[in-house]
Amino acid sequence: MNVVVITGGSDGIGAEMARQLAGRHGAQLALVLAGRSQQKLDAVAAQCRTHGAQVLCVAMDVAQEAQCRSLVDQALQQFGRIDTLVNNAGISAQALFEEVGADDLHWYEDLMRVNLWGAVWCTHAALPHLKASRGRIVAVSSLAGLVGVPGRTAYSATKSP
Ligand SMILES: NC(=O)c1ccc[n+]([C@@H]2O[C@H](COP(=O)([O-])OP(=O)(O)OC[C@H]3O[C@@H](n4cnc5c(N)ncnc54)[C@H](OP(=O)(O)O)[C@@H]3O)[C@@H](O)[C@H]2O)c1
Repeated sequence: MNVVVITGGSDGIGAEMARQLAGRHGAQLALVLAGRSQQKLDAVAAQCRTHGAQVLCVAMDVAQEAQCRSLVDQALQQFGRIDTLVNNAGISAQALFEEVGADDLHWYEDLMRVNLWGAVWCTHAALPHLKASRGRIVAVSSLAGLVGVPGRTAYSATKSP
């Protein structure tokens, strides 16, 4: 059984990744889909199960360290191993740094907690289990992380590889 944990598996790229993996690997695949919306997770899980994949949905917020650690615990409890961790959960943001007021700067921190710290906490919790399975970590970055973009200072910083 190939166990793949996808953060941000409820929508967008993460959900499409889950559907394509399920379509390709079917009953050989166990997916752990994480995101805040239980409803969206359930909808993606139903699509993946039609291909024979097993799916565990975990409603959680990657901006909370304890919830990242709990995600990994739940994946292990359900499937006994983790082969791949896909750190995909992320949010976008656009603003010129000089135009952000001091009272609004807190969203830079919020963005960091989701795009950077969410990946750090999930990776730290999963690392011993990924080493045990000789598994892999997938980081979903962005061109904006490779090349700084003036209107995307916060996002570029959170996506820098
Ligand atoms: N779309 C692009 O053009 C593009 C380009 C380069 C890189 N990326 C990167 O690709 C990744 C996915 O982007 P996307 O375009 O697919 O975005 P999206 O459609 O908005 O999906 C984002 C996913 O992340 C989840 N998410 C957001 N905040 C979360 C949180 N605090 N805790 C847990 N899950 C959270 C969302 O689920 P819930 O809402 O259910 O929590 C959703 O499943 C991101 O890391 C993004 O930076 C996207």
